[in-house]
Amino acid sequence: MTDDGRPLMKRLPGEVRRGPTVTLTVDGREVEAYLGETIATALLAAGVVAFRSGDRRSDTRAPYCGMGVCFECTVSIEGGSRVRACMTPVRPGLSVRTAAPESA
Ligand code: FES
Repeated sequence: MTDDGRPLMKRLPGEVRRGPTVTLTVDGREVEAYLGETIATALLAAGVVAFRSGDRRSDTRAPYCGMGVCFECTVSIEGGSRVRACMTPVRPGLSVRTAAPESA
């Protein structure tokens, strides 16, 4: 979020072809996304910028490369699997858990 509360990232407005909307749960909060988007896109558009903790619990990490190389974007999905959010597409009903301090 920016200092005035706006999401840091947002989807393009206007005439953009998108898949149907789906709802996922992120740290217990419902987040709307579009089929074909990645978890990272959905989280960033929802204003989530802390995806995981760093080596020190006070550190938070967020997507860096956006192409599956750096592993800075890992999140947990249902069943406890850790996935790269930038490489994993959303699906209806997906439950995502970040490791940001407020959700730990
Ligand atoms: S942002 Fe680098 S692996 Fe996802």
